[in-house]
Amino acid sequence: MQLQDRAYLCQGQYRDGSNLAARQRLHREYAQTGVPWQRFVFRQLRLPERSRILEVGCGPGWLWRENRELIPRGWRMTLTDLSPGMLEEAARELLALGPQVTFQAADAVALPFNPGSFDAVVANHMLYHVPDRSAALAEFRRVLVPGGLLLAATNGPGHLSQLRELEQLVRPTATAAISSEFDLVNGPVQLRPWFAHMSVVRQHGWLAVTEAGPVLDYLRSMPGRRLAGPEADLVRRYVDAAINRDGRWRVESEAGVIRGRRRERVGRLPGFA
Ligand SMILES: C[S@@+](CC[C@H](N)C(=O)[O-])C[C@H]1O[C@@H](n2cnc3c(N)ncnc32)[C@H](O)[C@@H]1O
Repeated sequence: MQLQDRAYLCQGQYRDGSNLAARQRLHREYAQTGVPWQRFVFRQLRLPERSRILEVGCGPGWLWRENRELIPRGWRMTLTDLSPGMLEEAARELLALGPQVTFQAADAVALPFNPGSFDAVVANHMLYHVPDRSAALAEFRRVLVPGGLLLAATNGPGHLSQLRELEQLVRPTATAAISSEFDLVNGPVQLRPWFAHMSVVRQHGWLAVTEAGPVLDYLRSMPGRRLAGPEADLVRRYVDAAINRDGRWRVESEAGVIRGRRRERVGRLPGFA
């Protein structure tokens, strides 16, 4: 699957933060939820004043960029990503945090850290990109202290369903949303062998889209044929029709975080009796 192919992720989709930015723009400009997404995730950390935090698949560092002023002085963050381009952007943008934050290229399935190095691991919208999730989760558990926190953020099954319907019209070969590999419903089951005391905190909302351009940018940021000519016209007509009829195109959003604590002993793998 393309969105789990390391070479494509590093050199294509996440070569830099531009594809992610096109998708975030849609949320940023049109979301009707009270709390901005990265603020919502940050609030779920709830860690002591002195904590060591590892973010795996940090992308361009949005979690810390958007909560800069709230980060306690005693926190030490280690930001990692498979893509060197993403890490460069994160490092550039977070320079002002000084020695509080360090950056390191790392694959989730082979973390270059000693056992028990962190009080918390954050995996924000990244686990569905990892084909061998069991290996990644074993690594997350290994680098956590006993009782350490895992915060795994992902989408719910209904996330952006109207946008996906539109995508099917213009790109009938598009596969199901990548986040269905690890979402708010099947995620806790996948985490269970390594993490206990799990809870899911959801953020339901909707987008009130009033322009077709950002929708086209969103769809173009996804893998697949570049949408041009008649397909681009179809997207514009589809969105414009809803805007003319209702004043906006309504798109449901559903994302959230799964919190869990490192298990003392590794449990059974899902699917094995
Ligand atoms: C959807 S982006 C999310 C970025 C960031 N966490 C955020 O929420 O803005 C997924 C990120 O995971 C990274 N990634 C994908 N597979 C990875 C792996 N096996 N190990 C580490 N990072 C990975 C990608 O390079 C990309 O930066």
